[in-house]
Parts: sequence; structure tokens; C-alpha cells
Amino acid sequence: MNALLEVDRVTRRFSGLTAVNDVSFTIGESEILGLIGPNGAGKTTLVSLISGTLEPSVGGIRFQGQALTGVPAYRRARLGIGRTFQIMQPFPGLSVLDNVAVGALFGHGGASGNLASARDKARSALEFVGLGKFISQRAESLGGPGRKRLELAKALAMQPTLLLCDEVMAGLTPVEVDEVVALLRRVRDRGISVLVIEHVMKAIRELSDRLLVLHHGEKIADGKPDAVLSDTTVIEAYLGRRRS
Ligand SMILES: Nc1ncnc2c1ncn2[C@@H]1O[C@H](COP(=O)(O)OP(=O)(O)OP(=O)(O)O)[C@@H](O)[C@H]1O
Ligand SMILES: [Mg+2]
Repeated sequence: MNALLEVDRVTRRFSGLTAVNDVSFTIGESEILGLIGPNGAGKTTLVSLISGTLEPSVGGIRFQGQALTGVPAYRRARLGIGRTFQIMQPFPGLSVLDNVAVGALFGHGGASGNLASARDKARSALEFVGLGKFISQRAESLGGPGRKRLELAKALAMQPTLLLCDEVMAGLTPVEVDEVVALLRRVRDRGISVLVIEHVMKAIRELSDRLLVLHHGEKIADGKPDAVLSDTTVIEAYLGRRRS
């Protein structure tokens, strides 16, 4: 299996703090990679390094064989890297439909300024995530779970090859979590690779083909979910701490 994304010895420092420390991994075609780690482990920073809102201090990232160094975030979106944001910020004053149409306009599919075609893509992404009934409402009228789905719809309307999901299940009920798990499986079945950051362990175990664990910015495990979740280092660093 060819790697879609190759992260090679990436480090990111913020003044005195090393948020991501010498991390390497790959994501294959149509693979779901789970990314876990305690709060502050560097997960969101890693997603920002891939999507281009941050550049590494050291190391490099390749997408479909192309080095991403110096490639701005908007061009990475055009190349096929879509992401959701942990802190949801819908465009205020725009409808649910147009929030998602923005994703279509600036994404991989590149609606290239054609609003009608962007809205068509937005409509199908909203149907897909179960927000079809809310398209004409203002985005800010959606509650927390609705906003999570909106984030997903925005990223999916970009028609990404690689979808980076940053805690899209946080705050959802167990039933809603199961729905999002099913949804992300369908995304993968469309041939999209998915990186999922999640604290909901049941979901991450069910969903991930492979699991990567960060702790204090360092990769401490990378492998099959069952093996990783029973690894003593992981239990001590992460699960043990959260259970205590
Ligand atoms: N822009 C920034 N400037 C300075 N420090 C930052 C910045 N972004 C993140 N950090 C720090 O880097 C570390 C990693 O943060 P990050 O948000 O990547 O963690 P996380 O694993 O996503 O945590 P959580 O599970 O709470 O979302 C933290 O100590 C955080 O305070
Ligand atoms: Mg985070």
C-alpha cells in the first residue's frame, strides 16, 4: 500500500515548549488512523502541521509524494487535505448551506468561484452528515452536536483525499457517537483516508485500522488498536492517567 501522507521526523516548538517532538508516521490510501494522547500531547498541533496552519520547526511532510514545506494551507486544501477544527467557528450570518459551500469553493473539488455548483456539493455533504433539514437556518442556531456535523460537512464538501478530524465526537451522546463512527466508515469506503483524533476510546477502537499515541509530543506507540491499547507504556501514559 502506497503512503498517501508521510510525516518525517517532524518537530514543532513554541518558544520554550516542544509540542511535537521528532514524530514520523504514514497514512495509507483508504486507511483510518486513530490519533490519541492525553490533553496537551500535541495532537491538534500535528493536524495543523499537516493542514498547513503551522510549519514544522524541523522535519518534513509529503502528500502524494509532494513535499509540503512552504505550501500554504489554502493550497494544501486544493491538493486534497481537508480538516475539521476542534474549536468550531461557523461563519456567522451565513446559512448552514453557505457555511458548507465555502468548503466546496476552496477545497479539492475546487468549485472555482461557481456558487451554484458549490451549493450543490454543500447540499449533498449536508445530507450525508444528517443536516439536510437545516440548510436554510443560520449556522449559529445549531447546537453543539449540530456544529460538529457542520464541521464535518464543511470538510467533506472540500472533497478531500485526506480528512483530518479533530475531536468531532466530543460532547456527543453514545448514540450520536455511533452515528459518526458509521459516517466516517462510509467516508473511508469512498476511498478517503481519515485521521481521527478522539478521546472516546470505544469509537477509536472500533474505527481505527491503526492507532498512533502521542505523549508529551512524542510518538510512544503506532500499531494495531488492540495491541496499542494493551501496551503497558500506553496504559501508564494515557489510559492509566485518565482512569485514575
Ligand atoms: N500556538 C501555540 N502557542 C504556544 N503553545 C501552543 C500553541 N498551540 C499549542 N500549544 C501548546 O502545545 C502543546 C500541545 O497542544 P495541542 O493543542 O497540540 O494538544 P492536544 O493533544 O491537541 O490537546 P487536547 O487533547 O487538549 O486537544 C500544549 O502544551 C499547548 O499548550
Ligand atoms: Mg487538541
